[in-house]
Amino acid sequence: MIEIQEAKNENFDGTVEELKERMFMYPHFIDGLLSGDFQEMPREEIEKIVDREFFSFEPLTPLDTEQEKLLRGVILKRLTFAVNHQDLRLFCGDVFTDDGRLIYGDVKDKNGVKLSAQEKLDIFFNPELCNEMRCIQLYDNGSTYERHGWAGYGNRDLVGHYFGREGDFKEILRDIRNATGKEFLKVLDLGCGMGKALQDMKDIDPHLETHGVTMEQELGMFNPDVFHYMASERLPADFRGQFDLITSNVSFRYYFLQHIALRNAVLALSKGGLARLAVSCERIPNGEEYYHYFKKIVPEAENQYEAMKILLGREVHKLKRLKDEGKIDFSIRPWFEEDNQGFMTIEKKEDFDETELND
Ligand SMILES: C[S@@+](CC[C@H](N)C(=O)[O-])C[C@H]1O[C@@H](n2cnc3c(N)ncnc32)[C@H](O)[C@@H]1O
Repeated sequence: MIEIQEAKNENFDGTVEELKERMFMYPHFIDGLLSGDFQEMPREEIEKIVDREFFSFEPLTPLDTEQEKLLRGVILKRLTFAVNHQDLRLFCGDVFTDDGRLIYGDVKDKNGVKLSAQEKLDIFFNPELCNEMRCIQLYDNGSTYERHGWAGYGNRDLVGHYFGREGDFKEILRDIRNATGKEFLKVLDLGCGMGKALQDMKDIDPHLETHGVTMEQELGMFNPDVFHYMASERLPADFRGQFDLITSNVSFRYYFLQHIALRNAVLALSKGGLARLAVSCERIPNGEEYYHYFKKIVPEAENQYEAMKILLGREVHKLKRLKDEGKIDFSIRPWFEEDNQGFMTIEKKEDFDETELND
C-alpha cells in the first residue's frame, strides 16, 4: 500500500482544467478543494449531465415515454447522491494525515500534518489511495468512524469476484477467441463501478479493449480504456453486436428495468461473444411512482420486485426460444428457474431477428 505522504498521482499530471474535464462530475469539488469552500453542484447542472450523457443518443432498445421519465428520475437521484456526497464538504475543509491515515471531520482539533489543496487533489483522484487509505472521520460528539479506503460504490477485483481463478478468465478468453476468430477482443462490464475488474483484465491480457458502463463517476476511478456514464437499460444503438465478452457483477440488482438491461446485453454481443451476468432485482428502486408503473404493466404482482421477476421470466423465455432455434446457447444456475434470478451465461452463436426479443 502506498503512503499518503508519497502520493503521486499518475492520473493527474496535467492542469486543474484538464482534471475538471476528465472528472466532469466533480468540477465543484475540485474548486472546493482549491478554495476550501465546498459548494454543492446545483440540480440544473446535474440535469444537464444526465441529459447529455444518458439520453442524448439513440438507444439499443427504445424505451417508452414513461420508462424514460422514471429512469431519468432514478439516474438523477443516484448522481445527486454521488456528486454532492456529504463527505465532499468535509474533504474541502481541514484534512490531516497521521501515521498513514487520513483524518477528517466536522471538529476543529485534529492531529497530524495538514494537507495542502494540491496534496488533496493527488490523494482523492488516485485510485490506489482512494481505495486503500485508512480514513478516520471525527464527529463533534467525540465518536469516530474508521474505514479502509474512501471508495464509493464498487471496486471489486476480477479474480475472486468476477472469476474464481485467473485461469478461468484466461480459459474463457481462449474460448471466445476460438468462437469469434478474433485475437483482439472488446470487453464490456455493465455496472463496472470504479473499473477495477476491467483494469485487472487488461493487466492479465493486454489484447483487450476494456469498456465500463457505470452511472456515476467516483473519485478514484481506475483506468479501463473507456468509461461510459450511462444506464444499462439505455445503452447506445451503436453498441449493437460490438462486444465479445460482457460481464456484470453486483450491478443488475440496482437497475430499474433489469429485463431491458438483459436484452441490451444480448443485443450488444458479437457473433461468438459471451455474456456472464449476475442477474437479480432485489434492490430495484422503491417508491410510489415505480410501484404505479409496475402495477400497470404486471397487475398480478404485489410489488415491483415481484413484477420484475415476472418480466425477467418472460425475457428468459425468449432466450430459451432463441436457444431452441440454435441462435444462442445459454445456461442458468438451477435456482434461476425458481426465482428468475441468478447467474447466467449467454453465447451468441448466430445472428438472429432482433424482433424476437420485442415485448
Ligand atoms: C456495487 S457497484 C458494483 C461495481 C462492480 N461491478 C463491482 O463488482 O465492484 C454497482 C454498480 O452498478 C452501477 N449501476 C447501478 N444502476 C445502474 C444502471 N441502471 N445502469 C448501469 N449501471 C448501474 C453503479 O453505477 C455501479 O457502477
